[in-house]
Amino acid sequence: MGINIVEEELGRKSVFMNEEKLSTDYVPSHLIHRDAELRQLAQFFRVLMQAPGTCSKTVSILGAVGTGKTAIAKRFGAFLEESASLRNINLKYIHINCRKQKTNTLILTTIIRNFSPNIPLRGFSTAELLYLLNEVLEKNNVFLLLVLDEADYLLRKNNSADFIYDLIRLNDDKLNAIQRISLIVIGKTINYYNLFDISTLSTFQKNIISLNKYAINQLKDILWARIEEAFYEGTVLSETVDLIADIASQWGDARLALDLLWRAGKYADKNFELKIAPEHARKAKGDIYPVIRQETVKTLSKQQLLTLLSIARTLKKENKAYITMGDLEEVYTVICEEYEEKPRVHTQLWEYIKELEMESIIATKISSKGYRGKTTLITIADAPAKIVEKKIETILDKYSEKQLKKT
Ligand SMILES: Nc1ncnc2c1ncn2[C@@H]1O[C@H](COP(=O)(O)OP(=O)(O)OP(=O)(O)O)[C@@H](O)[C@H]1O
Ligand SMILES: [Mg+2]
Repeated sequence: MGINIVEEELGRKSVFMNEEKLSTDYVPSHLIHRDAELRQLAQFFRVLMQAPGTCSKTVSILGAVGTGKTAIAKRFGAFLEESASLRNINLKYIHINCRKQKTNTLILTTIIRNFSPNIPLRGFSTAELLYLLNEVLEKNNVFLLLVLDEADYLLRKNNSADFIYDLIRLNDDKLNAIQRISLIVIGKTINYYNLFDISTLSTFQKNIISLNKYAINQLKDILWARIEEAFYEGTVLSETVDLIADIASQWGDARLALDLLWRAGKYADKNFELKIAPEHARKAKGDIYPVIRQETVKTLSKQQLLTLLSIARTLKKENKAYITMGDLEEVYTVICEEYEEKPRVHTQLWEYIKELEMESIIATKISSKGYRGKTTLITIADAPAKIVEKKIETILDKYSEKQLKKT
């Protein structure tokens, strides 16, 4: 006798068959609606397979949150390594997240360690590390496909444009040198290009792949494909998928769609229900305001959190749609006192605001009428100030607990 399906169903406690397929770092083997972009990448980097070493290539991938930038780069990196090994070309793909590896030195150290794990690297300058990197690549006779993900973070620092320039031009001063490094730079917007000099800029401008936000039907396709991998058959109602795609299409964000799906599944499990209904998705949505999602806020520094908390409290206090820097600074000083932090100077606070804006957590605009002179107005995009306040307070409390434990 085969498996008793009735028994199996009765014993089942979860809608999830493979929950890990919904985790943030899982990259599906097929990226739906991104074939064209993958092909574009393949064409750009074709020469690495056909005539390795003859030239180095640089491509930039741009797109909003959750448009698949990281996923595409990872998929492409894996494909290219596979093609290289079929041709006996020694090519290594390395993915660096510049939000985590915040400095040039850290990035270079990480890459070099990939090839020589035990090499002592402390105290070297960027120039020395670049030299070492070149040596290590030569010694191992290896070609490198380097992905600098979330490069907006790196490029905000003043010396990083030079750093990328140096990476691209590593071998230019040597006659007939073998070109070993190719680069994919990933960012959210084109803004950072201003930092480059003309010749680097021209290298980039020729090769930009822009990812559009996903439309509702594309999100549905992405959801259905993932449902097949992650859930038992028939557990997700199609109305639920429609609703989730509808919500996420406001931002065109596949990560938000998948996150909502996962949370909806969790709600179904919690209630011992075997079907994921629209109601579960609605509940899931109540948990997430895209701007204060866990992955976003957990990477903020204490000062960034204090700044965000100040903005939320000021918005509440003033009961206005937008606040000014002046309104904010008063509240910020008080909050720093409350959390026993030294308030930072005006220009530094301004930096935090720009960083939060880059995360799309807050938005700023220049005032028109009704204010004296031109002044910057600040608001929180897409979430009630009260909820942001609560969330940030909780995180800051955890911060203090951790610090207490340390002492
Ligand atoms: N075309 C696609 N097919 C299947 N899954 C996708 C597709 N595009 C994105 N995803 C999934 O959506 C999630 C978000 O994608 P990804 O992390 O690549 O976005 P991103 O553009 O790098 O966002 P961010 O700007 O926040 O870094 C991932 O879980 C990814 O696997
Ligand atoms: Mg990404």
